[in-house]
Amino acid sequence: MDHHRSRSPNSRYHDHHHSAHRRERGHSRRNNYDDGHLTHRRDQFDVKTEQNPLRSQTLSTRKDLYERDFPLYRQPVEVGSFSLDAQRRFFNDRRQMRYYVEPDKNPNFDLKDGYRDRYIRRDENVKEKLDHILRWILANKGTLKSKETTDSRALDYDFVTWRGHLTKLLTTPYETREGWQLAATKFNGTIYISEVETEAARVERENRPERNKEMMYWGYKFEQYTCADNVDSLPDPSGVVNTNEAFCTVVQTRLADHKLLFSGEVDCRDKDPSARPPACYVELKTSPEICTPKQRSNFHRFKLLKWWAQSFLPGVPRIVAGFKDHDGVVVSTETFLVSKVSQLIKNEFNCWKPTVCMNFCSDFLSFVKRIITENDHSLVYLFSWEPYRDVTYSLHRDSHYSFLPRWFIEGMSGSQESHH
Ligand code: A3P
Ligand code: MG
Repeated sequence: MDHHRSRSPNSRYHDHHHSAHRRERGHSRRNNYDDGHLTHRRDQFDVKTEQNPLRSQTLSTRKDLYERDFPLYRQPVEVGSFSLDAQRRFFNDRRQMRYYVEPDKNPNFDLKDGYRDRYIRRDENVKEKLDHILRWILANKGTLKSKETTDSRALDYDFVTWRGHLTKLLTTPYETREGWQLAATKFNGTIYISEVETEAARVERENRPERNKEMMYWGYKFEQYTCADNVDSLPDPSGVVNTNEAFCTVVQTRLADHKLLFSGEVDCRDKDPSARPPACYVELKTSPEICTPKQRSNFHRFKLLKWWAQSFLPGVPRIVAGFKDHDGVVVSTETFLVSKVSQLIKNEFNCWKPTVCMNFCSDFLSFVKRIITENDHSLVYLFSWEPYRDVTYSLHRDSHYSFLPRWFIEGMSGSQESHH
């Protein structure tokens, strides 16, 4: 298979360039210093004047501005993978890969089982930032394509980030509750993007009700019921659920004129050895059972948006959903093909559109490229967004926002041989 060719329009991986037409409304431009940092304050923008969007210092997230042809999104190609073990240690291999075992249509899995006595939870106070991806880049820098310029250290990617950060960007035009902050730094010509937990998210995490904590476990427990550790073994629901463990794919692709390298956690793969990554991967999800038309509509409008965005990005074709009752029992399962999701939602009134998601992401990346003028590993451009507002940014030099570790800077600045 020629991995460099785009998929057919049906699968939404297009090979046409999107129109360069940009319609976001500009905002007046004012810089000011705040706590020693150059900031562009949202509350000081005057929306009455229309400005040249190519010079605008903010980016609108209004959905109607992104309703145009679907942008080029090249078929994602897996260029590598890595594993994180039970102690969250990095391995440049596939040891944590799991194999999908199809559950019954009505399996009655009890997701509560093991929450008290067989659950090891990853420490969410540890902020890993891009570290695992950076480790992977260092371990593979000899084989990663470098820019055909005089500087052989430069990677041939415009952006390096986590898939989850891109998922947040894709869903931004439809998000009404949670804002985000993305720190971006240009190093050797590549822009690295790493999320910063917002104050609101931290407060919510630190005050999570017990019921929510337990429900977070349910999703991982569903994975345990449907995944085997080996190609010829069966799931073992009597084991421990340890959320430190992960298998991550690293993919490269292109969105419009942005060359991307990103990594995302993959739940499991199809056992059929002839299926190749990422086409063999399966995303597992749980969701409350659907009993009324209103619940079905909400599932289409909100849940499927997040599910689609997450899986579409790395080219994962299949989502297996376990529908659970109030008591945490999976009462039914259903498979969703990512390529068919847009047809499923098309009868919903005022529903989300894949093209809006992808065009917003593409325009955000163009905005970031335009704003980041300095190539400096200790300079962070912090992009911030709150629902119903525009994206704004501020600059932070040598601050606690800097996220590229010294070992990465030094490892990439040396020769092509890895020091690790
Ligand atoms: P479900 O989403 O199936 O309930 P993922 O599906 O992205 O691989 O995530 C696996 C599980 O982690 C989720 O399963 C959920 O249990 C938990 N989880 C992930 N992100 C979460 C979030 N933002 N809030 C609560 N739980 C989350
Ligand atoms: Mg999952």
